[in-house]
Amino acid sequence: ADVITLPAKNGNVTFNHKKHQEALKDCKVCHEKGPGKIEGFGKDWAHKTCKGCHSDKGAGPTKCADCHKK
Ligand code: HEM
Ligand code: HEM
Ligand code: HEM
Repeated sequence: ADVITLPAKNGNVTFNHKKHQEALKDCKVCHEKGPGKIEGFGKDWAHKTCKGCHSDKGAGPTKCADCHKK
């Protein structure tokens, strides 16, 4: 799927996989062990990797409600 819905009780996160693939090019940024389900994926992973990158690059959402939409 081009867009993956990541379920969260406080509001699901709509993740545009395709856009990230095209922008980042390197799958290993997120898929250390190769494409497919990510081992250990969840809250801590996402807040470190997703939010971490957005803060580092100064691009992409870092506020809770900008990712978690009810
Ligand atoms: C998961 C809170 C910011 C992306 C979660 C969960 C909580 C949470 C409570 C677990 C939900 C559950 O177990 O159902 C917060 C708070 C934030 C914040 C309080 C602000 C301080 C963000 C931001 C992003 C993000 C900025 C995106 C860059 C995610 C993702 C998950 C998640 C992808 C995992 C969903 C899954 O496991 O499928 N967050 N979040 N969050 N959060 Fe956040
Ligand atoms: C899921 C491939 C880049 C984050 C997947 C899946 C595949 C895949 C095959 C599982 C099937 C699906 O649901 O579509 C790839 C390839 C990439 C790439 C080939 C490089 C061209 C990325 C990047 C990120 C990312 C750069 C993060 C910015 C995710 C997430 C999931 C996923 C969060 C869902 C993981 C889960 O549910 O455990 N990817 N991906 N992917 N990908 Fe990627
Ligand atoms: C934009 C979520 C991982 C870099 C965004 C947006 C969302 C999002 C919701 C704003 C809407 C959009 O443009 O699609 C996530 C989630 C991640 C993740 C849930 C983890 C599964 C990453 C990583 C990086 C990254 C690892 C960098 C290494 C960016 C950038 C933008 C962005 C640069 C701005 C793109 C633009 O405005 O064109 N992300 N992201 N993201 N993300 Fe992520």
